[in-house]
Amino acid sequence: HRQLAPFPEGFLWGAASAAYQIEGGWNADGKGPSVWDVFSKQPGRTYQGSNGDVAVDHYHRYQEDVALMAEMGLMAYRFSISWPRIFPQGRGEANEGGLAFYERLIDALLAHGIEPVVTLYHWDAPQALMDEYGAWESRRIVDDFEHYCRALFTRFGAKVRYWITLNEQNIDTTRSFLLAKHPPAVRDRQRFYQANHHAFLANARAIRAFRQLVPGGKIGPTFCYCPAYAASSRPQDVVAAESAEEFTNHWWLDVYATGRYPASAWAWLVEHGQAPRIEGGDAELLAEAKPDFLGINYYYSQVFEDNALDGVGETDFNTSGQKGSTPVNGVPGLYKTTANPHLPTSNWDWAIDPDGLRITLRRVTSRYNLPVLITENGLGEFDQLSDDGKVHDGYRIDYLRHHLLACQQAISDGTKLMGYCAWSFTDLLSWLNGYQKRYGFVYVNRTETDPLDLARIRKDSFYWYRDVIASNGRKL
Ligand code: BG6
Repeated sequence: HRQLAPFPEGFLWGAASAAYQIEGGWNADGKGPSVWDVFSKQPGRTYQGSNGDVAVDHYHRYQEDVALMAEMGLMAYRFSISWPRIFPQGRGEANEGGLAFYERLIDALLAHGIEPVVTLYHWDAPQALMDEYGAWESRRIVDDFEHYCRALFTRFGAKVRYWITLNEQNIDTTRSFLLAKHPPAVRDRQRFYQANHHAFLANARAIRAFRQLVPGGKIGPTFCYCPAYAASSRPQDVVAAESAEEFTNHWWLDVYATGRYPASAWAWLVEHGQAPRIEGGDAELLAEAKPDFLGINYYYSQVFEDNALDGVGETDFNTSGQKGSTPVNGVPGLYKTTANPHLPTSNWDWAIDPDGLRITLRRVTSRYNLPVLITENGLGEFDQLSDDGKVHDGYRIDYLRHHLLACQQAISDGTKLMGYCAWSFTDLLSWLNGYQKRYGFVYVNRTETDPLDLARIRKDSFYWYRDVIASNGRKL
């Protein structure tokens, strides 16, 4: 077999998190409520009513968490800033209490030689803006988002080199406007495409402001790429898979990278009266704002087949952790999902497919030719604290090892891979699956509704990843 290229020197070995999923301190030091503080309290929205009021209390335990990162030898840590911590009303005067928290965190990371990778937006919009104008459904959010980003670039631009604009615009808006699972929890394709257009403009404005304020830094969006496979070599299934690539991947990545919506998807939306309204100057702004890299989150691949005009639409997904409970999803007349008989799945029915990561990196490199930072990849499982006081997560080591080998294959194929941030560092709140779906290298002792003592316990994967980092990936 082929000799694999080594991981490059300076490769960013990292781990990732998001504010709402770890911080807690939901109203500490002047923070305003986010849409998730409100949404998670509505009956039936989340798994067993779990919420991020306390989460894993990173807000108060960040020093202990950073010390564990340093012990592991982590070189990069991706975290997100909570917009309503900085602007409790979404705009206006910045809240010094919120800025000071992130300054302490960034300084603690830098003191240990850990590169901060800051996500500007990971789904927790200020509730004030939802109340005022429907958040992403109004163009007004574009100005408010730029104002928020400018405050962060000004305050932290000299300390933070790597920035992510929006986390998984595709997943968040799909769940908000097609699956009715994230706020505002509706099913409306026209509103979906309009909200996405505003998010594209916000992403572009953030990049434009960044060029002025942080000239030496690197910025890009993070996208959740699920490569589409055809269910068979029937040309109808191949067309379905191509449409799925176009509607579920290119729709976002083409706009980020080139400023243009993909042609065949655009034609279909015009025909169906779902295309977003575009105003004068939008196209120029989108074309001007070029990212330095693409952040890619990869969890699984998906298989698609032909779907009749009166066929299945957007339905739902598995939030229970019961294998086999994921329904078929699709867009009538375009495509629908089907299981992959060649792949094992997690308890949430996510196909375990390391080759899918290689395919993702090859497709993204061929189409956009930009450097890639893997901003998330990992395995959510029901980890157990054993009688010996340890967490033996060999299945996670196996998952990560094979995905890192896929990264090496992609590097050998020509992908410019800047780094790899595993999801996640500590266990955290899964938005809709609760605390029972664990991803961390560090176990956090809490249940769905009871924070217990929130003790941090290093899993077997913690020691394994430490050795991977120390050997720059030679010891997988
Ligand atoms: C990504 C998100 O979609 O996947 C994370 O950026 C999320 O916030 C992660 O937690 C894993 O998804 P889930 O549904 O298993 O929590």
